[in-house]
Amino acid sequence: MKKMYKVLLVGSTLTLAALTLAAFTTTATAKTMIKKEGIENHNEKWAKHFPLQYESWRQTSQSERIDDMLAKKPQLAVLWAGYGFSKDYNAPRGHFYALQDNINSLRTGAPVGPITGPMPTACWSCKSPDVPRMMAEVGELEYFTGKWAKYGHEIVNPIGCADCHDSQTGELALSRPFLKAGLEASGVNVAEITGDDMRSLVCAQCHAEYYFKKTPWTDKAGKEQVAGVVTFPWAKGLSAEAMEEYYDEIDFKDWTHKISKAPMLKAQHPGYEMYTTGIHGRRGVSCADCHMPSKSKDGQLYSDHNLQSPLNDIGNTCLNCHDQPEEEFRTVVEQKLQRKEQLMAIAMDNLAKAHLEAGKAWELGATEAEMAAILQDIRHGQWRWDYSIASHASFFHAPEETLRLLAVANEIAQTARLKLVQVLAKYGAVGYAAPDFSTKEKAQAIAGVNLAQLVTEKEQFKATLLQEWNKQAVKNGTLNMESRKGMSDKSSYSK
Ligand code: HEC
Ligand code: HEC
Ligand code: HEC
Ligand code: HEC
Repeated sequence: MKKMYKVLLVGSTLTLAALTLAAFTTTATAKTMIKKEGIENHNEKWAKHFPLQYESWRQTSQSERIDDMLAKKPQLAVLWAGYGFSKDYNAPRGHFYALQDNINSLRTGAPVGPITGPMPTACWSCKSPDVPRMMAEVGELEYFTGKWAKYGHEIVNPIGCADCHDSQTGELALSRPFLKAGLEASGVNVAEITGDDMRSLVCAQCHAEYYFKKTPWTDKAGKEQVAGVVTFPWAKGLSAEAMEEYYDEIDFKDWTHKISKAPMLKAQHPGYEMYTTGIHGRRGVSCADCHMPSKSKDGQLYSDHNLQSPLNDIGNTCLNCHDQPEEEFRTVVEQKLQRKEQLMAIAMDNLAKAHLEAGKAWELGATEAEMAAILQDIRHGQWRWDYSIASHASFFHAPEETLRLLAVANEIAQTARLKLVQVLAKYGAVGYAAPDFSTKEKAQAIAGVNLAQLVTEKEQFKATLLQEWNKQAVKNGTLNMESRKGMSDKSSYSK
């Protein structure tokens, strides 16, 4: 790999302890053939070879609580007005629910057939081992062409073994071509990736920033098609500024903001990118070191596959390398969280007001020329805010980078608002105060979200087309209904 990663080897004695530990845990690999050819998408079929890993993987089903972020932070609905995230957005939960959450989300809508609904096929891409299976079966470009509903009957098993392991050798493997392409674009030679790198890179397949790159191609029947290919914008670097430059250069926008009309970027979850800037990332502590502690049962060592907050198991994670008391660790992490929360609240408030003030300026007759620089500020300010917090737990993985981005986001939002004061004054709105967006209801009303209708349509979809998908998948042998035993069905709108 690139030099950057090698530098990680230099460090304190604590680092040495960390690296010894890492070397120790990676000696145990999964060198077993699960399937002769192709991808074994059924998680339960891996169970007989690796019962301990399977059982612990299944425990991700215990992280089932829905945390409705739009209710917790109503500003979000204003910030994302005109985009799917203003309809529904929850905090992440266990991998076991990744697929269900994607299906239940109001963002994926209520298709009535394979070509209806708002989202493209790409929206399945980080939810299931059926994704690499489909890519292998139909080809990458065909997979990335069409609507989300095209694959409702195919993508049916939640994130599991084949997302991170090779079905023929059992070893850690990158199942997603878009990570490999992203690494290559950023200057990493994929052929030189080491086993240690893999303990973070398997996660980077999904916990990373991406966009859907419009890619024209000709299908087997000779028909012109356009695929929306998941692409990591890493060619100029992994920082927020480098990616912004990448997006600006190709004039890319995820959507046009409904109120301010700003050409917006939506940060996905640049978790891996943020992590590389933090001290743990720099010292070579991998995602697995904290999220997959080594455990033993009946004398057998295994990696705990219950991916969750390491704070639920401080004794087996942090304290492998640190020797402070548990309580002290909790306090340290809690303080980091509070610092982020404070700056984040200010940044969100300023950005939401900037959108609303811009909306007012348009309403009063402001011109494109008067608004252009303001809209660019809003785009850049919101990108930094979103980038810093969309990657979950960045406040811990990369505290300095998170606070830096929030501070700059805030400065840019303030600049936009100062310019807006002048424009608004010119059109006679001196002292204009944005409307109240302090609850989810108020904020969604401002954003023009008709929640009741979205929920009714979704319930209808769940009672009809979704049932057809499942029946079809069972018939095709892709889904074993037994594998969903004990799976609760929760959403932000279920009663
Ligand atoms: C195939 C894509 C994919 C891969 C690979 C992946 N994740 Fe995830 N991860 C997700 C998605 C999607 C969610 C959110 C699921 C939800 O909320 O329904 C998630 C959620 C999580 C959560 C939150 C769990 C909770 O209970 O709150 C943690 C922690 C996590 N992932 C860590 C990791 C780590 C560490 C790795 C690598 C060892 C990894 N993930 C690999 C897609 C992936
Ligand atoms: C999100 C990625 C991810 C998923 C999903 C995943 N694994 Fe793993 N697995 C890893 C990582 C990373 C390691 C290496 C851990 C280490 O080196 O500390 C690993 C290690 C292993 C090992 C080697 C022995 C050990 O315990 O360290 C086995 C066997 C294994 N996994 C089986 C499975 C099975 C079976 C499933 C599905 C039920 C599964 N894995 C799902 C990432 C994953
Ligand atoms: C040094 C330890 C450490 C490393 C390394 C680490 N994490 Fe974390 N991670 C944490 C802690 C601590 C939290 C939880 C904070 C909390 O519960 O509020 C967390 C939380 C998360 C969450 C969010 C869980 C949630 O429900 O909000 C995700 C996702 C995640 N980590 C993914 C990753 C990925 C991917 C990597 C590697 C690129 C990684 N982590 C590396 C310690 C670590
Ligand atoms: C695999 C070893 C390893 C694990 C596991 C680990 N750390 Fe660390 N931690 C390190 C190293 C290495 C450093 C950097 C020390 C240095 O260079 O001074 C560090 C530094 C820190 C620091 C000081 C830097 C900062 O960001 O404030 C804190 C706090 C910390 N770790 C908390 C945690 C917590 C909480 C966990 C568990 C979620 C954890 N660590 C898990 C190895 C580890």
